[in-house]
Amino acid sequence: MDLDPMQLPPAIRAGLYSQMELPKTVPLACPQQHYIDQISAGGLLCPMDGVAFTFSRELTDFVLRSHELFSSASDMPLGNVRPLIPLNIDPPQHSKYRKILDPLFAPKAMDRIEDDVRARANKFIDEFIDRGEVNFSEEFAEKFPSAVFLGLMGLPWDQLETLMGLRDGILHPERFDPQVTVDPMARFTVMNETGQRIYAYFNEQLDAREAIPTDDILNHFITAQVDGERMSRNEILDLCYLFLIAGLDTVSDSLTCMFAYLATHPEHRAQIVDDPAIIPSAVEELLRWESPVPYGVPRVATRDVVLPNGATITEGTAVTVSYGGANIDPSEYADWDTVRFDRDANRHIAFGGGVHRCLGSHLARRELRIALGEWHSRIPVYGLKAGHEQLEFPPGLRHVKDLTLAWDS
Ligand code: HEM
Repeated sequence: MDLDPMQLPPAIRAGLYSQMELPKTVPLACPQQHYIDQISAGGLLCPMDGVAFTFSRELTDFVLRSHELFSSASDMPLGNVRPLIPLNIDPPQHSKYRKILDPLFAPKAMDRIEDDVRARANKFIDEFIDRGEVNFSEEFAEKFPSAVFLGLMGLPWDQLETLMGLRDGILHPERFDPQVTVDPMARFTVMNETGQRIYAYFNEQLDAREAIPTDDILNHFITAQVDGERMSRNEILDLCYLFLIAGLDTVSDSLTCMFAYLATHPEHRAQIVDDPAIIPSAVEELLRWESPVPYGVPRVATRDVVLPNGATITEGTAVTVSYGGANIDPSEYADWDTVRFDRDANRHIAFGGGVHRCLGSHLARRELRIALGEWHSRIPVYGLKAGHEQLEFPPGLRHVKDLTLAWDS
């Protein structure tokens, strides 16, 4: 069945445009020059009625900081039947959720799981280190963040595949039906079916914790209170849904981008090996340069808005910010195309900005730093395996499919 995009709500139209049309024009392996071209052309792209993209840092910051002008309470084609919490909730309701959630993902909370995260990273490295090669995307990047998530949620190891399957049904529907790349209805079908399974899965987990309380994040969601009130079952399910799609792939994708970069830039890799203390700033710089989450959630204009560049966005238009563009805008980074691990002023917005800034940034940073640290202490010299030099960056969040690395074992 043909789908007329103009019949869809603007945010869904914008989401489909990013997922299906942009990949046709943006070179996915190296989108940076495309971002710069968009910035040079004024930083605003309006490809169809009701859909706009901002690429410059100034316009993106303006949209992110003006939550009263640009609402995140938009429909998104992600198989969910209710708004995702807290992503699709505007202030003041939004801050109620962040009050509950922020302490659970604060740096101190991450200190407590550091050893567990390190052990999980090493468990995977143990499995392939003697082989001298690995499909890094499949055997490390995809599994490690999902395994950390298991620990946080109090789920046993045998749930790893189930969790990854649920994630894939929403974020990689092409793994279930190749038609989704050309047929939006096929995409919706896979996502909607998976969505139902996600609700059922977490419902079961929550029932178990209501019967026998545990000491994990799911249990905290049940017992947490703000202003004396607990969250309803649906609110908790909507949180869990978002965690599954926001907390796994983002880190996996960042890992594949970072290791692809390091495998092809031996001088940068050597800096990490020679001085591991540089890893935190290397992670920030690679997040800036790669911007694994290239675009934000479409935000819908609540009224006609005049942007700082004088352009008018009409009420109801879905505006999508490009984090990738903002992170290399020459107005912020004079040497935008130089990847520098010793950069001291790095105000990148790879984790977003404004009230919806990433809740999991401390967790993500911890996972990325630990992965880089453990890997380089155990496998300091590596590169792309011969015959696997051509890197494939599929559409979606920026990631490398089947990144295959090799080293002397
Ligand atoms: C390197 C990895 C990650 C990147 C690059 C990333 C990036 C982002 C970005 C750009 C946003 C803002 C979206 C928007 O409003 O346009 C966001 C929001 C969010 N992220 Fe992350 N993220 C990462 C990891 C994680 C992890 C591990 C979690 C798990 C806890 C997580 C949970 C969330 C949540 C819950 C939100 C919504 C926050 C809100 O609406 O208040 N993220 N993330």
